[in-house]
Amino acid sequence: MRQAYWILAALLLPIIAAGARDTGDVLQGTPNGLALTPPIGWNSWNKIGADVNERAIRAAADAMVSSGMRDVGYQYIVIDDLWQGERDKFGNIQPDPKRFPSGIKKLADYVHSKGLKFGIYSDAGTKTCGGRPGSRGYEFQDARRYAAWGVDYLKYDWCNVGTQDAPAAYLTMSEALQATGRPIVFSMCEWGNSKPWLWAQNIGNLWRTTGDIYDHWEGKSSNGYSIGAMNILDMQAGLEAYSGPGRWNDPDMLEVGNGGMTADEYRAHFGLWAMMAAPLIAGNDLAAMSEETKSILMNKEVIAVDQDALGVQASRMAKNGESEVWVRPLKGGGRAIVLLNRSTTPRQISVTWEQLRYPDTLKANIRDLWSHQDLPPAQGTFTATVSGHGIVMVTAKP
Ligand code: GLA
Repeated sequence: MRQAYWILAALLLPIIAAGARDTGDVLQGTPNGLALTPPIGWNSWNKIGADVNERAIRAAADAMVSSGMRDVGYQYIVIDDLWQGERDKFGNIQPDPKRFPSGIKKLADYVHSKGLKFGIYSDAGTKTCGGRPGSRGYEFQDARRYAAWGVDYLKYDWCNVGTQDAPAAYLTMSEALQATGRPIVFSMCEWGNSKPWLWAQNIGNLWRTTGDIYDHWEGKSSNGYSIGAMNILDMQAGLEAYSGPGRWNDPDMLEVGNGGMTADEYRAHFGLWAMMAAPLIAGNDLAAMSEETKSILMNKEVIAVDQDALGVQASRMAKNGESEVWVRPLKGGGRAIVLLNRSTTPRQISVTWEQLRYPDTLKANIRDLWSHQDLPPAQGTFTATVSGHGIVMVTAKP
């Protein structure tokens, strides 16, 4: 069954690419040939939320450089909701003058001067989720303005959309972005409501698959809408065939460093997001990171799994009560493996070579991506003790 997903993914790729060629303006089953590895950066929402302002965005850009995050691969600084003010008399969107008195162009220039890319947020409806002007009816005008400001990434939300059809609404903005001639990654935030993985390959570069993340291991927030890391994880199993270079499933942004989970739980959250080829969009205060948070967000070996050029999302190859095995094929024939313990006490968990789709006779080098150590080579099976609410994450390489 799981093997079938990988085979299906391999079969779908040329079909999607062929469809792309037919439309003339599409590369490799993506709308624009961008994001050939999952986007990696920071977004204001999870930590700052409604208090967003230009000082905070500049500080995030500064900290992304001074912390070393830029040097391990983080690229995008994205302003989420509530940056908008009113439209002017010509319909041009303007930033909130109190929060962004210097204007967005200056801010984008500043972010670019740090060697980073700049992202912004809008909504397919009349108003954003935070009640600011949405792009409904202004899609081409807004896209032109974003391009003139130097925007490299647009997150496009799904509040206040009335009876709009999601594929049509997202296609309109996708075309508007392409019409600008500027490369702009298109991040669709429709929460998985109408299964965007089925229709968005040629429209967006990434699409949310769930509602918002809740900074907890498991469960629902009191608003009943945001859900924990494990709840999100369960909703990704089975979506792997739809993801690939330029078109990623997005299980929402990271909560690492925001305080709602233990260090083990955050390592699991980060490691599993990397296994899923998820966008790695940090959402914490980059200027005030503990050493532990830094060691998680800047684990180069885990980031390398996320950014692996093959771009295949992990499959859940075994689920035995609260013990799970996730496997991601890597470029060059290796595998990334996560042994996940969802219980609260340590468990021994094994992966078999059958689950890796390796012959039993194959001897593989094993590397632990959290202790940064080579383990003894293994053959047929690999077993480890996994702490409660934790993972062991290794690569196996023939
Ligand atoms: C929605 C999105 C979030 C965030 C907020 C902003 O809930 O899913 O990621 O952008 O809106 O209002």
